[in-house]
Amino acid sequence: MKVLLTGSKGQLGTCFQDRLPEGWLILATDSDVLDITDYAAVDKAVGEYRPDVIVNAAAYTAVDKAEIDSELAERINVLGPKNLAAAAKKISARFIHVSTDYVFDGSAMAPYVETDVTNPLGVYGQTKLDGEIAASSELPDTIIIRTAWVFSEYGNNFVKTMLRLANDRDALSIVADQRGCPTYAGDIAQAIITLIQKEAEGGIYHYCGDKECSWYDFANAIFNIALELNKINKKPTLSAICTEQYPTPAKRPSYSTMNCAKINSYDIPSPEWLSALSSVISLLK
Ligand SMILES: NC(=O)c1ccc[n+]([C@@H]2O[C@H](COP(=O)([O-])OP(=O)(O)OC[C@H]3O[C@@H](n4cnc5c(N)ncnc54)[C@H](OP(=O)(O)O)[C@@H]3O)[C@@H](O)[C@H]2O)c1
Repeated sequence: MKVLLTGSKGQLGTCFQDRLPEGWLILATDSDVLDITDYAAVDKAVGEYRPDVIVNAAAYTAVDKAEIDSELAERINVLGPKNLAAAAKKISARFIHVSTDYVFDGSAMAPYVETDVTNPLGVYGQTKLDGEIAASSELPDTIIIRTAWVFSEYGNNFVKTMLRLANDRDALSIVADQRGCPTYAGDIAQAIITLIQKEAEGGIYHYCGDKECSWYDFANAIFNIALELNKINKKPTLSAICTEQYPTPAKRPSYSTMNCAKINSYDIPSPEWLSALSSVISLLK
Protein backbone atom coordinates (compact mmCIF):
# COMPACT_ATOMS: atom_id res chain seq x y z
CA MET A 1 0.00 0.00 0.00
CA LYS A 2 1.38 3.39 -1.01
CA VAL A 3 -0.05 6.37 0.87
CA LEU A 4 0.36 10.06 0.19
CA LEU A 5 -0.35 11.87 3.45
CA THR A 6 -0.99 15.60 3.74
CA GLY A 7 -0.88 17.59 6.98
CA SER A 8 1.80 15.22 8.25
CA LYS A 9 2.89 17.51 11.10
CA GLY A 10 -0.60 17.97 12.56
CA GLN A 11 -2.20 15.88 15.31
CA LEU A 12 -3.81 13.34 13.00
CA GLY A 13 -0.98 13.33 10.46
CA THR A 14 1.62 12.55 13.13
CA CYS A 15 -0.53 9.85 14.75
CA PHE A 16 -1.15 8.29 11.31
CA GLN A 17 2.60 7.93 10.69
CA ASP A 18 3.10 6.40 14.16
CA ARG A 19 0.59 3.66 13.28
CA LEU A 20 1.56 2.95 9.67
CA PRO A 21 1.21 -0.82 9.16
CA GLU A 22 4.36 -2.79 8.34
CA GLY A 23 5.10 -2.94 4.64
CA TRP A 24 3.11 0.21 3.80
CA LEU A 25 4.99 3.01 2.04
CA ILE A 26 4.28 6.64 2.77
CA LEU A 27 5.06 10.03 1.30
CA ALA A 28 4.37 12.30 4.28
CA THR A 29 3.88 15.93 3.30
CA ASP A 30 3.01 19.09 5.12
CA SER A 31 2.42 22.68 3.98
CA ASP A 32 6.17 23.35 3.63
CA VAL A 33 6.51 20.51 1.09
CA LEU A 34 3.08 20.31 -0.54
CA ASP A 35 0.53 23.12 -0.37
CA ILE A 36 -2.81 21.42 -1.01
CA THR A 37 -4.29 24.66 -2.36
CA ASP A 38 -1.85 24.54 -5.29
CA TYR A 39 -3.38 22.19 -7.86
CA ALA A 40 -0.28 22.05 -10.08
CA ALA A 41 1.87 21.00 -7.10
CA VAL A 42 -0.70 18.43 -5.94
CA ASP A 43 -1.07 17.00 -9.44
CA LYS A 44 2.72 16.74 -9.82
CA ALA A 45 3.28 15.07 -6.41
CA VAL A 46 0.44 12.59 -6.96
CA GLY A 47 1.46 11.89 -10.56
CA GLU A 48 5.06 11.20 -9.57
CA TYR A 49 4.44 9.15 -6.41
CA ARG A 50 1.34 7.36 -7.74
CA PRO A 51 -0.15 6.41 -4.36
CA ASP A 52 -2.93 3.84 -3.92
CA VAL A 53 -4.55 6.19 -1.44
CA ILE A 54 -4.36 9.86 -0.49
CA VAL A 55 -5.10 10.66 3.17
CA ASN A 56 -5.89 14.32 3.80
CA ALA A 57 -5.01 15.25 7.39
CA ALA A 58 -4.37 18.88 6.37
CA ALA A 59 -6.87 21.54 7.28
CA TYR A 60 -7.38 25.07 8.52
CA THR A 61 -8.43 24.21 12.09
CA ALA A 62 -8.42 27.59 13.91
CA VAL A 63 -12.19 27.74 14.48
CA ASP A 64 -12.35 31.31 15.84
CA LYS A 65 -9.66 32.79 13.58
CA ALA A 66 -11.55 31.46 10.55
CA GLU A 67 -14.27 34.04 11.21
CA ILE A 68 -11.90 36.84 10.13
CA ASP A 69 -9.65 34.75 7.89
CA SER A 70 -12.39 33.14 5.83
CA GLU A 71 -10.60 33.37 2.48
CA LEU A 72 -7.64 31.28 3.65
CA ALA A 73 -9.90 28.86 5.56
CA GLU A 74 -11.88 28.35 2.38
CA ARG A 75 -8.81 27.80 0.23
CA ILE A 76 -7.41 25.15 2.57
CA ASN A 77 -10.68 23.45 3.57
CA VAL A 78 -12.51 23.57 0.21
CA LEU A 79 -10.01 23.99 -2.62
CA GLY A 80 -7.51 21.67 -0.85
CA PRO A 81 -9.73 18.55 -0.74
CA LYS A 82 -11.11 19.37 -4.21
CA ASN A 83 -7.54 19.39 -5.62
CA LEU A 84 -6.63 16.16 -3.84
CA ALA A 85 -9.81 14.40 -5.00
CA ALA A 86 -9.20 15.50 -8.60
CA ALA A 87 -5.60 14.26 -8.50
CA ALA A 88 -6.69 10.95 -6.93
CA LYS A 89 -9.32 10.49 -9.64
CA LYS A 90 -6.73 11.01 -12.38
CA ILE A 91 -4.67 8.00 -11.23
CA SER A 92 -7.61 5.93 -9.84
CA ALA A 93 -6.37 6.26 -6.25
CA ARG A 94 -8.68 6.36 -3.25
CA PHE A 95 -9.16 9.58 -1.36
CA ILE A 96 -9.78 9.77 2.39
CA HIS A 97 -10.79 13.12 3.79
CA VAL A 98 -11.51 14.24 7.37
CA SER A 99 -14.33 16.55 8.40
CA THR A 100 -16.03 17.72 11.56
CA ASP A 101 -19.08 17.68 13.84
CA TYR A 102 -19.19 21.47 13.35
CA VAL A 103 -21.11 20.91 10.09
CA PHE A 104 -24.15 20.56 12.40
CA ASP A 105 -25.99 23.31 14.31
CA GLY A 106 -26.52 21.31 17.51
CA SER A 107 -30.31 21.38 17.46
CA ALA A 108 -30.68 17.57 17.26
CA MET A 109 -32.23 15.60 20.12
CA ALA A 110 -30.36 12.37 19.33
CA PRO A 111 -26.85 11.55 18.04
CA TYR A 112 -26.37 12.79 14.48
CA VAL A 113 -26.41 10.23 11.66
CA GLU A 114 -24.55 10.75 8.41
CA THR A 115 -27.71 11.70 6.49
CA ASP A 116 -28.90 14.34 8.97
CA VAL A 117 -29.33 17.88 7.70
CA THR A 118 -26.22 20.03 8.07
CA ASN A 119 -26.27 23.67 9.09
CA PRO A 120 -22.86 25.01 10.15
CA LEU A 121 -22.88 27.90 12.61
CA GLY A 122 -19.52 29.40 11.63
CA VAL A 123 -17.00 29.85 8.83
CA TYR A 124 -14.88 26.83 9.83
CA GLY A 125 -17.89 24.48 9.81
CA GLN A 126 -19.13 25.94 6.52
CA THR A 127 -15.75 25.52 4.81
CA LYS A 128 -15.48 21.93 6.10
CA LEU A 129 -18.96 21.16 4.75
CA ASP A 130 -18.12 22.79 1.40
CA GLY A 131 -14.90 20.73 1.36
CA GLU A 132 -16.90 17.50 1.81
CA ILE A 133 -19.14 18.48 -1.11
CA ALA A 134 -16.23 19.60 -3.31
CA ALA A 135 -14.29 16.35 -2.74
CA SER A 136 -17.21 14.01 -3.29
CA SER A 137 -18.39 15.95 -6.37
CA GLU A 138 -14.91 15.51 -7.84
CA LEU A 139 -14.62 11.85 -6.76
CA PRO A 140 -17.88 10.25 -5.52
CA ASP A 141 -15.95 7.31 -4.03
CA THR A 142 -14.25 9.65 -1.52
CA ILE A 143 -14.36 8.47 2.11
CA ILE A 144 -15.18 11.32 4.49
CA ILE A 145 -14.74 10.80 8.22
CA ARG A 146 -16.49 13.34 10.41
CA THR A 147 -14.87 13.46 13.82
CA ALA A 148 -14.96 15.71 16.89
CA TRP A 149 -13.09 17.28 19.82
CA VAL A 150 -9.71 15.87 18.69
CA PHE A 151 -6.89 15.50 21.21
CA SER A 152 -3.48 13.85 21.17
CA GLU A 153 0.04 14.10 22.54
CA TYR A 154 0.91 16.29 19.51
CA GLY A 155 0.09 19.83 18.41
CA ASN A 156 -2.40 22.12 20.08
CA ASN A 157 -5.55 20.82 21.71
CA PHE A 158 -7.86 21.20 24.71
CA VAL A 159 -5.95 18.68 26.86
CA LYS A 160 -2.66 20.54 26.50
CA THR A 161 -4.35 23.91 27.04
CA MET A 162 -5.97 22.68 30.28
CA LEU A 163 -2.69 21.27 31.61
CA ARG A 164 -0.88 24.51 30.82
CA LEU A 165 -3.61 26.51 32.58
CA ALA A 166 -3.37 24.24 35.63
CA ASN A 167 0.16 25.52 36.16
CA ASP A 168 -0.85 29.18 35.95
CA ARG A 169 -4.28 29.36 37.57
CA ASP A 170 -5.97 28.28 40.79
CA ALA A 171 -9.48 28.50 39.34
CA LEU A 172 -10.96 27.97 35.89
CA SER A 173 -14.39 28.54 34.37
CA ILE A 174 -15.33 25.95 31.75
CA VAL A 175 -18.32 25.80 29.42
CA ALA A 176 -20.76 23.11 30.53
CA ASP A 177 -23.64 23.53 28.09
CA GLN A 178 -21.87 22.28 24.94
CA ARG A 179 -21.87 18.50 24.66
CA GLY A 180 -19.89 16.24 22.35
CA CYS A 181 -17.47 13.33 22.24
CA PRO A 182 -13.71 13.72 22.64
CA THR A 183 -11.74 11.65 20.13
CA TYR A 184 -8.08 10.61 20.24
CA ALA A 185 -6.26 11.35 16.95
CA GLY A 186 -4.48 7.97 17.21
CA ASP A 187 -7.86 6.24 17.14
CA ILE A 188 -8.92 8.25 14.08
CA ALA A 189 -5.65 7.26 12.36
CA GLN A 190 -6.31 3.59 13.17
CA ALA A 191 -9.89 3.87 11.89
CA ILE A 192 -8.59 5.31 8.59
CA ILE A 193 -6.11 2.44 8.26
CA THR A 194 -8.85 -0.13 8.88
CA LEU A 195 -11.18 1.51 6.34
CA ILE A 196 -8.37 1.34 3.76
CA GLN A 197 -7.63 -2.31 4.61
CA LYS A 198 -11.32 -3.23 4.39
CA GLU A 199 -11.77 -1.36 1.11
CA ALA A 200 -14.70 0.47 2.64
CA GLU A 201 -17.37 2.00 0.46
CA GLY A 202 -17.11 5.69 -0.35
CA GLY A 203 -19.32 8.10 1.60
CA ILE A 204 -19.55 9.84 4.95
CA TYR A 205 -18.71 8.06 8.22
CA HIS A 206 -19.21 9.47 11.71
CA TYR A 207 -16.45 8.57 14.17
CA CYS A 208 -16.04 9.93 17.68
CA GLY A 209 -15.30 8.87 21.25
CA ASP A 210 -17.65 6.50 23.07
CA LYS A 211 -19.07 8.75 25.77
CA GLU A 212 -20.74 12.13 25.49
CA CYS A 213 -19.60 14.88 27.85
CA SER A 214 -19.39 18.65 28.20
CA TRP A 215 -16.15 20.67 28.01
CA TYR A 216 -16.50 20.99 31.80
CA ASP A 217 -16.66 17.18 32.21
CA PHE A 218 -13.72 16.81 29.80
CA ALA A 219 -11.63 19.32 31.80
CA ASN A 220 -12.57 17.56 35.03
CA ALA A 221 -11.41 14.21 33.61
CA ILE A 222 -8.15 15.76 32.37
CA PHE A 223 -7.32 17.19 35.80
CA ASN A 224 -8.29 14.02 37.70
CA ILE A 225 -6.07 11.87 35.49
CA ALA A 226 -3.20 14.39 35.50
CA LEU A 227 -3.29 14.54 39.30
CA GLU A 228 -3.31 10.76 39.55
CA LEU A 229 -0.32 10.56 37.18
CA ASN A 230 1.53 13.32 39.09
CA LYS A 231 1.56 15.58 36.05
CA ILE A 232 0.11 18.49 38.04
CA ASN A 233 0.57 19.41 41.70
CA LYS A 234 -3.00 20.48 42.32
CA LYS A 235 -6.31 20.53 40.54
CA PRO A 236 -7.67 24.02 39.81
CA THR A 237 -11.11 24.81 41.19
CA LEU A 238 -13.54 24.38 38.31
CA SER A 239 -16.72 26.41 37.75
CA ALA A 240 -19.31 25.32 35.22
CA ILE A 241 -20.39 28.24 33.04
CA CYS A 242 -22.72 28.60 30.07
CA THR A 243 -21.78 29.57 26.52
CA GLU A 244 -23.02 33.17 26.97
CA GLN A 245 -20.48 33.63 29.77
CA TYR A 246 -17.62 32.66 27.44
CA PRO A 247 -18.27 34.49 24.15
CA THR A 248 -16.14 33.39 21.19
CA PRO A 249 -15.98 34.79 17.63
CA ALA A 250 -17.34 31.51 16.20
CA LYS A 251 -20.61 30.01 17.40
CA ARG A 252 -20.33 26.32 18.28
CA PRO A 253 -23.04 23.64 18.29
CA SER A 254 -24.40 23.02 21.79
CA TYR A 255 -24.78 19.33 20.95
CA SER A 256 -22.66 17.42 18.46
CA THR A 257 -22.69 13.77 19.50
CA MET A 258 -22.54 11.59 16.41
CA ASN A 259 -24.03 8.15 15.83
CA CYS A 260 -21.15 5.88 14.76
CA ALA A 261 -23.16 2.77 13.82
CA LYS A 262 -22.09 2.94 10.16
CA ILE A 263 -18.35 2.83 10.88
CA ASN A 264 -18.94 0.35 13.76
CA SER A 265 -20.26 -2.08 11.14
CA TYR A 266 -16.69 -2.28 9.75
CA ASP A 267 -15.54 -3.65 13.13
CA ILE A 268 -14.33 -0.20 14.09
CA PRO A 269 -15.79 0.41 17.56
CA SER A 270 -16.27 3.88 18.98
CA PRO A 271 -13.03 4.44 20.91
CA GLU A 272 -12.88 4.72 24.71
CA TRP A 273 -11.68 8.29 25.02
CA LEU A 274 -11.03 8.12 28.78
CA SER A 275 -8.40 5.41 28.46
CA ALA A 276 -6.84 7.20 25.47
CA LEU A 277 -6.77 10.36 27.58
CA SER A 278 -4.78 8.55 30.32
CA SER A 279 -2.26 7.31 27.73
CA VAL A 280 -1.90 10.77 26.20
CA ILE A 281 -1.43 12.52 29.56
CA SER A 282 1.13 9.92 30.63
CA LEU A 283 3.15 10.81 27.50
CA LEU A 284 3.12 14.55 28.21
CA LYS A 285 5.89 16.24 30.19
N1 LIG B 1 -8.79 19.52 16.09
C1 LIG B 1 -10.07 19.23 16.31
O1 LIG B 1 -10.60 19.36 17.42
C2 LIG B 1 -10.91 18.67 15.18
C3 LIG B 1 -12.27 18.38 15.41
C4 LIG B 1 -13.04 17.83 14.38
C5 LIG B 1 -12.45 17.59 13.14
N2 LIG B 1 -11.14 17.90 12.93
C6 LIG B 1 -10.57 17.65 11.60
O2 LIG B 1 -9.58 16.64 11.75
C7 LIG B 1 -8.55 16.83 10.78
C8 LIG B 1 -7.19 16.80 11.46
O3 LIG B 1 -7.15 17.84 12.43
P1 LIG B 1 -5.87 18.09 13.34
O4 LIG B 1 -6.36 18.52 14.67
O5 LIG B 1 -4.92 16.94 13.21
O6 LIG B 1 -5.27 19.37 12.59
P2 LIG B 1 -3.93 20.18 12.93
O7 LIG B 1 -3.22 19.57 14.07
O8 LIG B 1 -4.33 21.62 13.00
O9 LIG B 1 -3.05 19.95 11.63
C9 LIG B 1 -3.41 20.47 10.39
C10 LIG B 1 -2.21 20.36 9.49
O10 LIG B 1 -2.59 20.85 8.19
C11 LIG B 1 -1.49 21.56 7.67
N3 LIG B 1 -1.89 22.51 6.63
C12 LIG B 1 -2.52 23.69 6.78
N4 LIG B 1 -2.66 24.29 5.59
C13 LIG B 1 -2.09 23.48 4.66
C14 LIG B 1 -1.91 23.55 3.26
N5 LIG B 1 -2.34 24.61 2.55
N6 LIG B 1 -1.27 22.55 2.63
C15 LIG B 1 -0.83 21.48 3.34
N7 LIG B 1 -0.96 21.34 4.67
C16 LIG B 1 -1.59 22.34 5.33
C17 LIG B 1 -0.91 22.29 8.88
O11 LIG B 1 0.41 22.68 8.60
P3 LIG B 1 0.96 24.12 9.10
O12 LIG B 1 1.03 24.01 10.58
O13 LIG B 1 2.27 24.24 8.42
O14 LIG B 1 -0.07 25.13 8.64
C18 LIG B 1 -1.01 21.20 9.95
O15 LIG B 1 0.14 20.40 9.96
C19 LIG B 1 -8.89 18.14 10.07
O16 LIG B 1 -9.55 17.87 8.87
C20 LIG B 1 -9.84 18.84 11.02
O17 LIG B 1 -10.71 19.73 10.36
C21 LIG B 1 -10.36 18.40 13.92
